[in-house]
Amino acid sequence: MEIQLSKTPGARERRADPRLCIDKCLQTVIARTLPKRNFSNRRLGRNGRVWNDEHVTAELAGAIVVRQVGSDANVASGLTDVLVDCVEGGASVGFMLPLSRERAEAYWTSALDSASRGERILMVAEEEDTGVVVGTVQVLLTAPENQPHRGEIAKMLVHRRARRGGVAEALMQAIEAAAREVGKTLLVLDTSSADAERVYERLGWQRVGVIPGYALWPTGGLVDTTVFYKKLS
Ligand SMILES: CC(C)(COP(=O)(O)OP(=O)(O)OC[C@H]1O[C@@H](n2cnc3c(N)ncnc32)[C@H](O)[C@@H]1OP(=O)(O)O)[C@@H](O)C(=O)NCCC(=O)NCCS
Repeated sequence: MEIQLSKTPGARERRADPRLCIDKCLQTVIARTLPKRNFSNRRLGRNGRVWNDEHVTAELAGAIVVRQVGSDANVASGLTDVLVDCVEGGASVGFMLPLSRERAEAYWTSALDSASRGERILMVAEEEDTGVVVGTVQVLLTAPENQPHRGEIAKMLVHRRARRGGVAEALMQAIEAAAREVGKTLLVLDTSSADAERVYERLGWQRVGVIPGYALWPTGGLVDTTVFYKKLS
């Protein structure tokens, strides 16, 4: 599967006009090919799920493009699909089950509006051929006035059918680059996902520690969260 990262105009342009972050994309900065691997009988994640299929790989049509979006009604529906799929798959990402499409779409409409106001940067990963959204991540840019250098990563989500193909890693590379370009030098996040922890550790994030019983699973019951940070150079 080929993954391309696209980004907004250069750092200098963006600092001159932060609104250029919005709705602009398309300067390919990285293109790489990820060979498919055979995951036969491989144990995945903390939930103990085991793929028994002969060949389990990311079920993607072809190239994946990562791009930054703003207030773009076209992606709200695709983002809703991804969020509902992740929550129905058991991810603790801020929502309880049952999660209606209306509630999920209202969240994305608000997040996209916020992105268009420059309060956050929102990335989507899409199948290049079909435009289907398969993943997303955000960095929240608003912070108290004594922390202008800090951003917070949020809503790292990859549709179950697109997992284990490098989409999360590509999204993280794109969002870190975008955060760096708007002047952030420190990023923080927390996660309840062992799969996500491995992605972050691979990308050089530092584990701070675990907060017990921080949130609820979508079906109820307390879940811990692990806090990470990364200094951007
Ligand atoms: C956590 C999550 C975002 C990871 O997404 P992903 O796209 O599957 O992540 P990646 O593909 O980059 O990495 C996952 C694994 O696939 C492997 N992989 C990546 N590309 C691969 C390829 N081409 N072939 C084979 N394996 C590959 C990675 O090495 C990694 O292996 P590991 O789990 O043994 O460390 C996804 O599981 C998810 O959306 N979970 C639910 C939502 C959630 O909890 N989000 C976290 C909120 S903080």
